[in-house]
Amino acid sequence: MDLSIVIPTYNEKDNIEILINKLKCQFSENKISGEIIVVDDNSPDGTGKIVEKLKEKYSFVSCIHRKGKLGLSSAAIEGFNISKGNVIGLMDADLSHPPEKIVQMFKEIENGHDLVIGSRYINKGKIIGWNLKRKLMSRVATFLSIPFTKVRDPMTGFFLIKRECLDCSKLDAKGFKILLDILVRLKCKNIKEIPIIFVNRMKGKSKANIGEIFDYLKNLWVYSKLKYSNFIQFLKFGIVGISGLILNLLFLFIFTEFFGIYYLISAIFSFSISMTHNYFFNKIWTFGESFGGDVIKKYFKFVGISLFALVINLFVMFILVEKFSIWYIFSQMIAISFASIFNFVGNKLWTFNDSK
Ligand code: GDD
Ligand code: MN
Repeated sequence: MDLSIVIPTYNEKDNIEILINKLKCQFSENKISGEIIVVDDNSPDGTGKIVEKLKEKYSFVSCIHRKGKLGLSSAAIEGFNISKGNVIGLMDADLSHPPEKIVQMFKEIENGHDLVIGSRYINKGKIIGWNLKRKLMSRVATFLSIPFTKVRDPMTGFFLIKRECLDCSKLDAKGFKILLDILVRLKCKNIKEIPIIFVNRMKGKSKANIGEIFDYLKNLWVYSKLKYSNFIQFLKFGIVGISGLILNLLFLFIFTEFFGIYYLISAIFSFSISMTHNYFFNKIWTFGESFGGDVIKKYFKFVGISLFALVINLFVMFILVEKFSIWYIFSQMIAISFASIFNFVGNKLWTFNDSK
């Protein structure tokens, strides 16, 4: 089997037969041994029954019937899981995606690409029949995906992928945007976008709704944690550091002014308090550890790294002031950046690294 095309359906009675016939022509004209897998969510309009009839006529058609409307991505994944082709494709049932493009896409996979995408947002691609609101929403969603992929149209529901690259166990079945999930979670190196003209459906209604937008935003949050976890940890580390500094100054003031303690002794107390605060917040919040577990040992490691960072701080500052004649305040700003990076990396790799 060369090619499996998965088509999720929910209320597509006026479209599915036309699409299956068009795909059949594409397969036979181009001598592709292909199968079609419809995944129907018990459509009230009887789409499932229409596919059952087509199944009797065409041996290359199969159908998964699910209990109810369980979502586009999970339908796609169920289809992928029973597919037999070396190449697996996904497309909508509503004739928005041009079946004629499949042959070209299939050839690109044969030429060595891992993933070929039917794209509306590259040269010669376009959308016909959408109102301004829909266009805008799609553009905003696409814009928000920029930090996660170089693909210009990760929102499209039309693509072909090599079987070796499709590890469904790594995919998240929630939401509408399975392609972005594939791009973020799977390793497809060789990706190609091919322009398509997307035509809004003539029959039936779109199933996109507000819930889909929330799912999408939730997914983006998960992706940012996956992709930028180091950066987010560094930000948290910075926030803890700044709050520790504020705490330090506050206690220095309180001890000295209200308790009449000699200011250098106050400084030792306030330093200890802020160090302890930094340690626990970084342990629990930044690095996601529990309260217990080598608390004391790690505390000393944390203090050790912090003192080492202070040495780096002073050293960099000294060099900048003495050798480069930079004003000591600017020098300190640069030196603090170096020391903070060391502090973060040191604590991440040593103090809070349980594999060591
Ligand atoms: N089985 C199943 N279950 N199929 C579903 C479900 C579901 O819960 N929801 C939607 N579908 C099917 C539809 O029957 C259709 O074949 C396809 O998924 C796309 O749904 P539409 O209702 O046509 O959605 P759309 O046109 O708003 O969304 C299209 O544009 C997006 C890009 O902007 C689709 O192509 C999406 O895949 C695409 O992400
Ligand atoms: Mn549609």
